[in-house]
Amino acid sequence: MTTTIIADTAKITSRISMPHQRNALERNPNKLALTEIVNFERTIKANNERVWENVLDWEHLAWLHDTSFDYNELDAAGDWGWRVWSDRDHQNHIELCINLQQSTYVARSYLAGEQISEIWTTIAASNGNTSITVSINAPDVDKKKLPKLSAIYLKLYTKLWDEDEQMMIRRQTKLDDRSHGPEHINLGAFDALDDKQIVKLGRHEWQIRKRNEGIDVYAATCPHLLGPLDEGKSENNQVVCPWHGYRFDISSGECVFPVHAKCHLPQPPIVTINDGLVSLSLIS
Ligand code: FES
Ligand SMILES: [Fe+2]
Repeated sequence: MTTTIIADTAKITSRISMPHQRNALERNPNKLALTEIVNFERTIKANNERVWENVLDWEHLAWLHDTSFDYNELDAAGDWGWRVWSDRDHQNHIELCINLQQSTYVARSYLAGEQISEIWTTIAASNGNTSITVSINAPDVDKKKLPKLSAIYLKLYTKLWDEDEQMMIRRQTKLDDRSHGPEHINLGAFDALDDKQIVKLGRHEWQIRKRNEGIDVYAATCPHLLGPLDEGKSENNQVVCPWHGYRFDISSGECVFPVHAKCHLPQPPIVTINDGLVSLSLIS
């Protein structure tokens, strides 16, 4: 019985979650007049695992790359890759398909169903880092405009990979960090506190934000994928992580967006203010 259920589920999953593009892992499956606009190689200072994780992470597009992408909403995802809507009206989409055997993936963008780009990226491990080769192609390119387009796309994709690389480096650093801070810390006089500082207590780094009437203390690292919550915008007692836009209630630690999120901020230390002196203690 269990085997049947698993087999049925697998069938259903593969039916509802597949590439829309037919023959997606072939080059130019729609037989367009594609031109290679630019081809570049670079080394990413992160291992293969971080890079594949980043490739499959559709959620960061409109947050980490907020100057390049306006909107992303998941349509489907599976072991083949993912597809996201790139506008609220669901007219335009991006589909990314991976070929693990060949260590390559392709991302295609579509406007109202018409393919407008095809970007192939090949990934190879390189002494703890990862080398990538990127080939950016588009249909019906005016050859006179090629040098200008080439410069624009090279600049854009260098920026995107710079942002991804910073994310991967930070995430790896946080994953590798086994250090432990004290259980208790004195921060000194309330009046002399910086408006914002970070301290390590126990296993976590805590962000301390001074308000007129008191202090907010909450995790400096996001419980989702270890993003820099201390760099997130905070308002109305909520803080938003800049990597994937997860929003947390500072008082309860609850993740209030997106609805599917399962993560929660760790319980913060107890703040004590005695005779104007501030201290933090972990709850044992
Ligand atoms: S790391 Fe993903 S939302 Fe913070
Ligand atoms: Fe990215």
